[in-house]
Amino acid sequence: MAKFLVTGGAGFIGSHFCDVALQKGHQVVAFDDLSTGLEIFLTEAKKNPNFRLAVGDIREYSQISDVANNFKPDWVIHFAANADVRRGLERPRRDLEYNTIGTWNVLDATQKSGCKNFLFSSTGSVYGEPEVFPTPETCPFPIQTSLYGASKAAGEGLISAYSMGFGMNSVVFRFVSIMGPRYTHGHVFDFAKRLRQDSSTLAILGNGKQLKSYLHIEDLMKGIWLTIESKPTGFNVYNIGHDDALTVDQSVNYICEYLKINPKRTYSGGERGWVGDSPRIQLDTSKLKKLGWSAKHSLEKAVKDTIGYLTENSHLLNRID
Ligand SMILES: NC(=O)c1ccc[n+]([C@@H]2O[C@H](COP(=O)([O-])OP(=O)(O)OC[C@H]3O[C@@H](n4cnc5c(N)ncnc54)[C@H](O)[C@@H]3O)[C@@H](O)[C@H]2O)c1
Repeated sequence: MAKFLVTGGAGFIGSHFCDVALQKGHQVVAFDDLSTGLEIFLTEAKKNPNFRLAVGDIREYSQISDVANNFKPDWVIHFAANADVRRGLERPRRDLEYNTIGTWNVLDATQKSGCKNFLFSSTGSVYGEPEVFPTPETCPFPIQTSLYGASKAAGEGLISAYSMGFGMNSVVFRFVSIMGPRYTHGHVFDFAKRLRQDSSTLAILGNGKQLKSYLHIEDLMKGIWLTIESKPTGFNVYNIGHDDALTVDQSVNYICEYLKINPKRTYSGGERGWVGDSPRIQLDTSKLKKLGWSAKHSLEKAVKDTIGYLTENSHLLNRID
């Protein structure tokens, strides 16, 4: 049994990580400020005596360091973040405070607690608008197109420096957009919310042709656990995403098929949905595949599981902005 401290453990991805860690017999402390995360996502976890929720804010160094020092984790899994990519320019300090300074707080608290193993949820957005597709981990990304991507790239830099400087073992995952049960933000959420209000029309940001890879949460979990169980040493970066990609219009087709509706689509126009939206995201995952990983679920299933979950839990569409 190992001890996992999971920041953002009440969120979409973090709560799935906690569930799998507990199923594997590990001890888990989820650290979360419950800003976008929800305690209902931890309903199963809370039944397990190996689980504890610590409510706290990663922006407050003493809060995360107290939990790390008391728990003495074997691994710190850092998911807590401002995961809202689109509204970065409305609140420019937010990505810096949550994703860069917050990451430093968690990282330094990890190192000072004596924990040697750190995993970070970065993003394919760090590549900005690359010229190589599928984009490998070695692709240079000198130009950032969003504050979110920039703040995550800064987090990656700090983690690599701590790994080199303090001999920590770290894994940085660059995710595509993740889908599945407990999904609470992203384009399927936005569409579900708007279609619930009016299923006769759907306003789409951009021209609908943005081509992006996605991944089902179960496939993400398999990739993350494979790397943890490979006992990584030094600083490691892995892309993770499906080989397949969907245009926004294709996603809408799957959503409408599931809901059995046919709204009139309108487009705001342009290649990008908003400033900083990458019109194409497709990551080269051959490095992770060498560890034995592959995606099992199709993107159609990923979209339909997501819209199915949001339909069954439509109260979430009201609760979360
Ligand atoms: N979902 C995706 O498609 C996707 C893609 C790429 C990267 N990521 C990254 O994966 C991680 C998890 O994303 P998610 O989709 O589960 O988002 P989420 O919003 O559901 O989860 C983030 C969690 O962090 C918590 N949190 C936020 N600020 C905090 C703070 N200051 N202190 C403590 N807790 C805080 C929230 O309450 C929430 O539970 C994030 O780092 C995100 O940037 C997600």
